[in-house]
Amino acid sequence: MRVLVTGAAGMLGSRLVKRLLEQGVAGRAVTAMDLFDAFPCTPSDAPGVEIRTFQGDIADLEICEHLAASKPDFVFHLASIVSGEAETNFHLGYRVNLQGGLALLEGLRAHGNRPRFVFSSSGAVFGGPVPDLIDDDFAPTPLTSYGSQKLIVEALVQDYTRKGFIDGVSIRLPAICIRPGKPNKAASGFYSGIIREPLNGVEAVVPVSRDIVHSSASPRSAVGFLIHAAEIDSDRIGHRRSLNMPGVFCTVGEQIEAMARVAGPQYLRLLRDEIDPAIERIVSTWPKGYRATRAKDLGFTAEANFDEIIRIYIEEEMPDGLPPVSNR
Ligand SMILES: NC(=O)c1ccc[n+]([C@@H]2O[C@H](COP(=O)([O-])OP(=O)(O)OC[C@H]3O[C@@H](n4cnc5c(N)ncnc54)[C@H](O)[C@@H]3O)[C@@H](O)[C@H]2O)c1
Repeated sequence: MRVLVTGAAGMLGSRLVKRLLEQGVAGRAVTAMDLFDAFPCTPSDAPGVEIRTFQGDIADLEICEHLAASKPDFVFHLASIVSGEAETNFHLGYRVNLQGGLALLEGLRAHGNRPRFVFSSSGAVFGGPVPDLIDDDFAPTPLTSYGSQKLIVEALVQDYTRKGFIDGVSIRLPAICIRPGKPNKAASGFYSGIIREPLNGVEAVVPVSRDIVHSSASPRSAVGFLIHAAEIDSDRIGHRRSLNMPGVFCTVGEQIEAMARVAGPQYLRLLRDEIDPAIERIVSTWPKGYRATRAKDLGFTAEANFDEIIRIYIEEEMPDGLPPVSNR
């Protein structure tokens, strides 16, 4: 069974590839995998699996037709410019996030094998004012370019599915915490940074007021969502192909309290509050949380609380444990 992953060099893409190679999808082992990204992909060895890597621009139709020509059974479309960058670089955001999605769908339409297509959309499709918990039928009215681009691609996924060119599912991910590595240009990046940096003994700025509420899930859960979205029976999804994913619903302050509980109060000293109006403006328009009734009924699951999210980060990313930080 052949799988295509775009954005395969990214944080979620690389973890998805690893998990797919370990566990397969829909009860079948992966025998061939095509990995695509603007940056080089470096998958681990997988004996018996034909792995091909491609580097290029997802908005290039010729490349997308080439990727689709191998007729993948499953496509995971993750290649994207993140929210902060799509907001500051309007042209780049529309080219990668919108034209890229369309080019890939056109490539798949041309080759006509109707793969299951999983699109990593975002809660940024919603814009304020929003209720405390967004229901599945709440209307998406994005207030960022990134959210608009994601919503348009969701509409394409819906229509290409209706026409029988793909069998698509768009999953609206919450903020994925705790993102390992260096900070990125996502407006939501600080949700990870304010935990990751202190746990690594580094100071971090809290750029929004601590009562901002948001919904998050671990990278482990996000990869689980993507694979589960590939496996659900089409009839169970029905004709509405966009799903709000579950997540932990908490304030920035509660996130920080969870860090003190899990790792120790000494890490709090490494945080400094300094509001960044641009970030606060973007994230305060995003949903606080989702009821995610349809997704939960379809079997999507996330962590129960932020303590769990922090424990997963420590377990997966800090094999040598936490660095000592003085109590004073
Ligand atoms: N991480 C989150 O909190 C979050 C939340 C909601 C939605 N998402 C979505 O999930 C997906 C994966 O997120 P991530 O956190 O792994 O992001 P990431 O930035 O780590 O990965 C995205 C990948 O897309 C690649 N890319 C960018 N432009 C490209 C182009 N023109 N052609 C080909 N590849 C290109 C990048 O090189 C990168 O490897 C994205 O679609 C993102 O919008 C993420």
